[in-house]
Amino acid sequence: MTPPHPPAARHLVRDSADQVAATAADLILEVLDGVSALGLATGSSPLGAYDEIVRRVRSGEVRLPVAQRGYLLDEYLGLAAGDPNSYASVIRREVADALRLDVRGPDGQAADPHAEAERYGREVVEASVAVQVLGIGRNGHLGFNEPGSDLDSRTRVVRLAETTRRDNARFFGSPTDVPTHAITQGLATIMRARRLVVIALGARKADAVAAALRGPVDPACPASIVQRHPDAYVVTDREAAGAVR
Ligand code: GLP
Repeated sequence: MTPPHPPAARHLVRDSADQVAATAADLILEVLDGVSALGLATGSSPLGAYDEIVRRVRSGEVRLPVAQRGYLLDEYLGLAAGDPNSYASVIRREVADALRLDVRGPDGQAADPHAEAERYGREVVEASVAVQVLGIGRNGHLGFNEPGSDLDSRTRVVRLAETTRRDNARFFGSPTDVPTHAITQGLATIMRARRLVVIALGARKADAVAAALRGPVDPACPASIVQRHPDAYVVTDREAAGAVR
């Protein structure tokens, strides 16, 4: 008997950022039932999808509540929750306030960050996230799971790659203001969400998208773990799909 095909992440390619946002919003809303837990990522890639969900709510196409709680994918260490650059602030501002989500995340100022990472990891697992929204780093990172992250990794304290700190410096006064560490949901934690929706835009993500979809499932490209998820979607524009063969 031939073994069944392993599940493969579905790659959906769209002609514009607006179409990527609409498709991602469809995939996210499809599995939410008003009381679910929604996993939220920061970064520029999911913003269009968040805007589209908010637009549908405001126009009455979609009714509140779309979900009860929003769970952060990651958080910088060392920033107060009220700091405009903390991921809790970003997520509230960009999407959660408009959707009236109760936002849960790791405390970036916890006295014992390792214990806080463990506590938050347990909370996420107990919440049973219905759909996790994800971006992808240029280096293939997922959340702040940088290359080299164990595929079985749990929620933990991580050191940020220098490329990631440089990429994220645009939000801070100076590159040295970017925190060096963060708490991130681990790859195994992310994989527990019932659906994954990864969003990538632009040619600068092309190599990471190709490695995630077509490369070996390997810590060198943490995002490649999506190939093992039974209900994962990677939604991209043509530019980000440019290296997928
Ligand atoms: C940050 C986040 C990631 C995100 C990445 C990509 O590093 N921790 O979760 O995927 O940025 O950001 P962008 O979508 O802006 O390219």
